[in-house]
Amino acid sequence: MGSVAAEDIEQRELVVVANRLPIEFDEDSGWRPAPGGLVSAMEAVLRDRDATWIGWSGRFEDARRQDVPPPPAGTGNLQLDEVLLTKAEVEGYYEGFSNGAIWPLYHDAIVPPIYHRTQFETYRRVNEKFARRTAQAAPPGAVVWIHDYQLQLVPRMLRMLRPDLRIGFFLHIPFPPAEIFSQLPWRRQILEGLMGSDLIGFQTKDGAVNFLRLVRRFLALRPGGDRVVVDELSGTRTVHVEAFPIGIRATDFAELAASPEVQARAKQIRSDLGDPKVLMLGVDRLDYTKGIDVRIRAVTELLQDEDLDPEETVFVQVATPSRENVEEYQRIREDIELLVSRANGDIGKLGVTPIHYLHQNMPRDELVAMYVAADVMLVTPFRDGMNLVAMEYVACRINEDGALVLSEFTGAANSMHEAWLVNPYDIDGMKRSILDASRTSPEEAHQRMLALRHGVFEHDVERWALDFERQLEGRNAR
Ligand code: ADP
Ligand code: G6P
Repeated sequence: MGSVAAEDIEQRELVVVANRLPIEFDEDSGWRPAPGGLVSAMEAVLRDRDATWIGWSGRFEDARRQDVPPPPAGTGNLQLDEVLLTKAEVEGYYEGFSNGAIWPLYHDAIVPPIYHRTQFETYRRVNEKFARRTAQAAPPGAVVWIHDYQLQLVPRMLRMLRPDLRIGFFLHIPFPPAEIFSQLPWRRQILEGLMGSDLIGFQTKDGAVNFLRLVRRFLALRPGGDRVVVDELSGTRTVHVEAFPIGIRATDFAELAASPEVQARAKQIRSDLGDPKVLMLGVDRLDYTKGIDVRIRAVTELLQDEDLDPEETVFVQVATPSRENVEEYQRIREDIELLVSRANGDIGKLGVTPIHYLHQNMPRDELVAMYVAADVMLVTPFRDGMNLVAMEYVACRINEDGALVLSEFTGAANSMHEAWLVNPYDIDGMKRSILDASRTSPEEAHQRMLALRHGVFEHDVERWALDFERQLEGRNAR
């Protein structure tokens, strides 16, 4: 087994399968990048590749809205292959089983997962739809890389249809311990579905270990290290199970951050906010896993008690609209909006708004200008597979300053030790860390940021993809 050059991997036929295509339709701006870490990461990997991306565009198969045109056939060398879903499929498979059962379950069940038999059945049927489409599209012997919790049954279904393919699966979100996973009524089907892969990748070692324990318990298989040998009619097959912590395309962010336009915009943002002494920032999809509510509470208490001066501190929270038809998302939005308006009502003065809240998507350069403008970045999820926002902030700090407050329950915390690590369930501890981060000396901030930047640039998303693909090809020299 030798190592393989990056160019070799780029030559192969690659088919990527994910619930979402990398674009979504917006009435004002037309087709634009879809939200979330999966799309950010894979778009960066595939931008210059000859590959096909199979996924849902957000359009409905039935009741198609007249005003939504078909998505473009591709971007650069990347071909987009649209899967259309019916309204009932979106309700049962996407809003229902994926985001009402699996998403909360895999995030420590921080809101109760809801299990409906009909929704699982729809999930199964939609997974079959993706598997069939992939079986049609993939050239002989191609490498197929399936992504995330919406498509966990696809690996096995696809293997039955196309045994010639090399099948990889990567889970972008956490994979929970047995004590939590075991409540899933369809735990066996999910494990069997994933085991159709040649390689299963998780964000963290814990995720891989949890999975191997479950395979032993529920499938009566005997993992040896990171390998599991399965007996099938056609013979034995080895499934590799490993951690591949994802990264970002750090140089892209640094370049954008350094551009004169973004630098000027960052200054403008600070001046629009009244040139505060401390500008704090949060950027998340509006999701109950992200700990936006505890973060607002912590900052509000600090301002109320005047540990932070409300006249000299501004906190900007960007909350990207997400999964708006799912009840728990409607609830968390209401909670957050109430917290923000109460805080501003209590602490604000005419012309002084301590908390700015933006419920909107924004272009990449505007987001980067915010990262450049912010002195302290608050990333406080209760649980997060990785969290790319934390890495993006670090990559954008081209002057090697700024402070990152980061939840220890993110995958990112495994490598970003120099951040101010916090337990989001401990509000007093979090308040102390926020205060400490906002009052840190320039020397300490510099030292920490230097180390953080080193990690983010070293373990970027291209290296992640290369590692995964090499292992999938069975040619890894790791
Ligand atoms: P998740 O995948 O759970 O949404 P991540 O932090 O891993 O969380 O990834 C979020 C991605 O979405 C990042 O690449 C971030 O830049 C992007 N993003 C978040 N909010 C916005 C926004 N309002 N506009 C544009 N992009 C956003
Ligand atoms: C996370 C998930 C992705 C998902 C994204 C946005 O990053 O891991 O699979 O695409 O959130 O969520 P959405 O439901 O809008 O696709």
